[in-house]
Amino acid sequence: MGWGIQKLSGHLGARLTGKRVNGASEATLNAVRDALFEYEVVVLPDQHLSPEDHIRLAAHFGEIVVNRFFTPVATHPRIAEVRTKPDQTAVLGGTWHTDHSYDAAPAMCSILCAHELPPVGGDTHFASMTAGYHALSDGLKQTLRGLSAEHSDGSFAGSQLGLGLGGNPDAFRPPVVHPAVIAHPVTGAPCVYVNGDFTTRFEGWSVEESAPLLAYLYRFVTQPIFTARVVWEPGMVAIWDNRLVQHYATADYPGHARLMHRITVAGEPLAPFEGA
Ligand code: SIN
Repeated sequence: MGWGIQKLSGHLGARLTGKRVNGASEATLNAVRDALFEYEVVVLPDQHLSPEDHIRLAAHFGEIVVNRFFTPVATHPRIAEVRTKPDQTAVLGGTWHTDHSYDAAPAMCSILCAHELPPVGGDTHFASMTAGYHALSDGLKQTLRGLSAEHSDGSFAGSQLGLGLGGNPDAFRPPVVHPAVIAHPVTGAPCVYVNGDFTTRFEGWSVEESAPLLAYLYRFVTQPIFTARVVWEPGMVAIWDNRLVQHYATADYPGHARLMHRITVAGEPLAPFEGA
């Protein structure tokens, strides 16, 4: 397929090198898509995409879904701005989450392009929800497969991170419910689909009852053995499948700016894993 592939860690992540996505053939872009489903997150160094290039790349993966909380890029409102100003100590996406799990049809993938990076730090960590699932005991797998969980956008309500809400209360919607273990819509792989930022409780359980098991799952799935770290380089692009991984951005560069552009691509409603 022409891409060089170096794995980022034992369980997930691949660095794809030697080609440009801009102007690439259908076959070359299909190879990126296949690698995404196989490695869960892919990074493509040295791409230097303009906003138009970024939108064209996203179109290969599906329909763009505009994030209703993030500030849009002024000239390209379909792109969300992930900006850290030098005086900020907290960052957007600074805790484990999957993008848009609070939507009835959560985002399939996110495509993040580096535009301005701190001299060091600001790495993004990814955790494999399939590797985590496979390592659980058979008993807990079975229990989780009988559960669904509620996901809410409420954690944006108190955020001080300069989100582009413009005081718009319509941005907030009622919680949605997804199976606790989903079948990946393309590969059928089982994934533990709960995350720290947006999952509030198991359906039919109280918040208090749900908290210990949810906390256990967050810790379990995000253990270092199930993670890969993306160290950003100028012009780098990362693409991750939100059904397969959780991610967080490291807030370790006080006094420096960081600017990323993010596009999320629409996904479909999620079905429970029914396999053995
Ligand atoms: C995000 O959570 O989508 C942002 C990740 C990052 O800025 O590294």
